[in-house]
Amino acid sequence: DDALLDELIEVARTIAVESGAMIRAGRPADVEVAGTKSTAQDIVTAMDLAVEAHLRARLAELRPDDAVLGEEGGSTGGTSGVTWVVDPIDGTVNYLYGLPSYSVSVAAVVGPPDPSTWTVLAGCVHAPVDGRTFVAGRGRGATLDGVPIRVREAPSLRDSLVGTGFGYREERRRSQGRIVAVVLPQVRDIRRIGSAALDLCAVASGGLDLYYERGLSPWDLAAGELVAREAGAQVSGLRGRPAGTEMTVAGHPVLQAELAALLAENDADTDI
Ligand code: IPD
Repeated sequence: DDALLDELIEVARTIAVESGAMIRAGRPADVEVAGTKSTAQDIVTAMDLAVEAHLRARLAELRPDDAVLGEEGGSTGGTSGVTWVVDPIDGTVNYLYGLPSYSVSVAAVVGPPDPSTWTVLAGCVHAPVDGRTFVAGRGRGATLDGVPIRVREAPSLRDSLVGTGFGYREERRRSQGRIVAVVLPQVRDIRRIGSAALDLCAVASGGLDLYYERGLSPWDLAAGELVAREAGAQVSGLRGRPAGTEMTVAGHPVLQAELAALLAENDADTDI
């Protein structure tokens, strides 16, 4: 209902922006790697852990009956049917190097918290370095700093600026390199921004025409997917599948379909 949606949007915005302030205030001159996850390249910093703890603590206060699924802390129960899907720092490698493109991503979903089954109700992606805040509510549109945003409509794939990203495993990267070699000659150029949430928000606000990536996790996708959709983007996988781990393609509907077809022809959703 309307009041619930209002509340979820407000909670998402509040805790994402708060977390951004925490990150801005706390970034030491030399950030240290606190640990590695799937591979030596897949890092976590003390700030990722501190911000996720903050998000969880605030959600326990504001929405005590909801579940939480976070990049660093896994999932914890809840009885309301709403799950918060959070990424404390999406773009941790940029954060480590002092590059500005990282974000806090917070979304409220209903249904099993997997991209193929969930419905995202509210989402906020906040970039602490430049202070940009993207907010979306299901059926309510998407905004950047309070101003409505829309996807860009490039005339063709050739005129499109395309974002993408890479996973952390060697085998996956080999196949992602193969696909970049197919896409790059056919488009205006490629960007690797380094935060999937910001890629999706860039599509939503005309900073990119298209974005695709294989291997996204639920917390990379949830908030940005809604922001992009509410700004008029089509967001899906290949061959009619939903967006998710296998493949996510986002952009203006006509071009999105063209890019998805090109990716499908080249088996971009398979590690070969
Ligand atoms: C990563 C970023 C990156 C994408 C990777 C993600 P993390 O998230 O979103 O842009 O290419 O697939 O894992 O690890 O910085 O939270």
